[in-house]
Amino acid sequence: SRRPTPADRFSFGLWTVGWTGVDPFGVASRPALDPWEYAERLAELGVWGVSFHDNDVFPFDASESERDKRVARLREAADRAGLVIEMVTTNTFTHPVFKDGALTANDRSVRRFALRKVLRAVDLAAAAGASTFVMWGGREGGEYDGSKDVFAAMERYKEGLDTVAGYIKSQGHGLRIALEPKPNEPRGDIFLPTVGHALAMISELEHGDIVGLNPETGHEQMAGLNYTHALGQALWHGKLFHIDLNGQRGLKYDQDLVFGHGDLMSAFFTVDLLENGFPGYPDGPRYTGARHFDYKPSRTEHMDGVWESARACMATYLMLSDKARAFRADPRVREAMEYAGVTALATPTLAEGETAQSLLAADDGFDPDRAAERDLGFVRLQQLAVEHLIG
Ligand code: GCO
Ligand code: MN
Ligand code: MN
Ligand code: MN
Repeated sequence: SRRPTPADRFSFGLWTVGWTGVDPFGVASRPALDPWEYAERLAELGVWGVSFHDNDVFPFDASESERDKRVARLREAADRAGLVIEMVTTNTFTHPVFKDGALTANDRSVRRFALRKVLRAVDLAAAAGASTFVMWGGREGGEYDGSKDVFAAMERYKEGLDTVAGYIKSQGHGLRIALEPKPNEPRGDIFLPTVGHALAMISELEHGDIVGLNPETGHEQMAGLNYTHALGQALWHGKLFHIDLNGQRGLKYDQDLVFGHGDLMSAFFTVDLLENGFPGYPDGPRYTGARHFDYKPSRTEHMDGVWESARACMATYLMLSDKARAFRADPRVREAMEYAGVTALATPTLAEGETAQSLLAADDGFDPDRAAERDLGFVRLQQLAVEHLIG
């Protein structure tokens, strides 16, 4: 497949290729490089942008000058390599101070410390020229229902998010917040477990206009949900601000596999939506942000395998994008979509000016038994997708 270029807007978290293989059962299986080295190598692969947590660049307990020095060094490397720092986020999960959460920790002093850490990362994001500030509340949640007042937790989550969003506005930063849902891991149950929960939270915020979503493939799939539907609904709400693409196979621990190495059929339709939009709405909302990967090169791989796996994420995306384009252009697919009524769903159910009352009074001469005999041909349409995918 063709080599990625910056025009493809591929982006990687520094913590992805930077994962050394530490898991709950084992130590690192490969060395750690400096953040700027990861950035330089990614640029060589044709990547457009990078993202990072504050503590991917400097340690949790870094002095002011160490922090500034390391951030400057990364920004220089990114500039030299022509990389955009498109997203920045905060690590509010590694240090044990966050063991009961950050914005929703029972301990108020922890919440105040966490909020300060997030606000400082917001300034860092703005200075680095990022457009998105991701908030993944990995430690917000619990294991035991008796240990958390959920009403209070929602109050504090809202307070925290509004404080951060209000601060972004007051500073005139050109940043938008993207919430990243996840059902569990590291907490037994994480608050805002799915895209739907996060959308509902956003609708309660005072500054919700600059708060949207960063849905991750594997996170929706860990909850048994459909990632492409999640993206579709987020787009419908005007809230798809960022994406984390990866692979996941079933309802188990967060695998963070290479994009496409989980549910390939689902990945095909994810790329189809991202690249081709909604079939019934040619002028409908489209995702134009970074094609951002949040995966982990498997622990079995050494450094060659790290770069190989980053290449694989992009190559798979590009192959699926070619296939999705061919799928949409295929006259047999167009005909099958027509037969299936896919685009007919875009026609409003009520006629112009029609009300519930006039609908009740109208006689369409509709025969439910006849309508029930309609063959929809969804299977044939799906088989055409399979043909394109493996053909
Ligand atoms: C996970 C998450 C994280 C977040 C990242 C951004 O592994 O559960 O995907 O990788 O995306 O920490 O805050
Ligand atoms: Mn994940
Ligand atoms: Mn993620
Ligand atoms: Mn992850």
